[in-house]
Amino acid sequence: MDTDNFHLHESTIKETDIIYHERLGFGADGEVYRITWKSEEGEVEAAAKKIKLPSDASRFQQLKFEIHVAQNFRHENVIRYYGYAITETHVIIVMEYAAKGSLFRYLKSLRKKDPKVHLSSGEIHSWAKQAAKGIQYLRKSSLVHRDVKSPNLLITADNTLKLCDFGLTKYLPETRSTYTGRGTFRWLAPEVWKDQKLSPKADVFAFGIVLWELITGEEPYEGMRPEHVVFSVAYGNKRPDIPTRCADVYRTLLTQCWQGDRDQRPTIDEIVAILDGTEQVFGIRK
Ligand SMILES: Nc1ncnc2c1ncn2[C@@H]1O[C@H](COP(=O)(O)OP(=O)(O)O)[C@@H](O)[C@H]1O
Ligand SMILES: [Mg+2]
Repeated sequence: MDTDNFHLHESTIKETDIIYHERLGFGADGEVYRITWKSEEGEVEAAAKKIKLPSDASRFQQLKFEIHVAQNFRHENVIRYYGYAITETHVIIVMEYAAKGSLFRYLKSLRKKDPKVHLSSGEIHSWAKQAAKGIQYLRKSSLVHRDVKSPNLLITADNTLKLCDFGLTKYLPETRSTYTGRGTFRWLAPEVWKDQKLSPKADVFAFGIVLWELITGEEPYEGMRPEHVVFSVAYGNKRPDIPTRCADVYRTLLTQCWQGDRDQRPTIDEIVAILDGTEQVFGIRK
């Protein structure tokens, strides 16, 4: 099985059954709205990602692949896809709604309210573990997400963290590994930039950046231009500064996830095991 060889189930959702509400976000090829979906079982509050039908065949193939893999995902920490609709102009992916938006925006609004306020140690630990479990679930199906970052981690009304956006997800081993770098430079592992090498360890590197975001509440390499970030990380061994008050367990984990040599990084299973074994750890020392 690879990204070019799969069968996509027929479209199950009609666009006429969708009522659009406010826009939740937008990206390179589409927009995301909160919607009401009139399903057979009744009205469901959901989210819809509306993407212009790609004219480029390989992009269209990747989009169908995104829907194909994501439709089968069933995990607490992975956003659930309900189905999709195709119109003459758009593909509309209907999925579970995350009321509190992305982790990236959540942290940004916390900073805006009070830059001195951080997530509690319980929140850091729980969300780190949930992000790791979402990545681990994909890994178990031999998939690499390739776009792990706080804007692609969503928070539901009950504070569950869920991985979303499988627009770059691929099966391993994959012969081709073209990286288009859609706004992900701050989370990008150096070898992906340098050699276009695809491996699950790129998701581990990105997880390290997310863990750092949870601990500090800050934006990685704030004020630096993305091209400068990617160059300094790949060739100057630059990494985000770890605050002195960071707990030792996290300091070690961050450093391991960010190893330049991807073989030195822990596997996602090891990360989950470490986090499972450290229930009582404090992210920030008092
Ligand atoms: N299911 C959802 N519930 C709530 N907000 C969402 C949902 N899906 C996406 N969003 C918002 O829209 C943004 C873009 O969605 P995403 O799937 O990452 O698309 P893109 O491929 O354009 O990056 C997210 O960062 C988030 O803020
Ligand atoms: Mg995204």
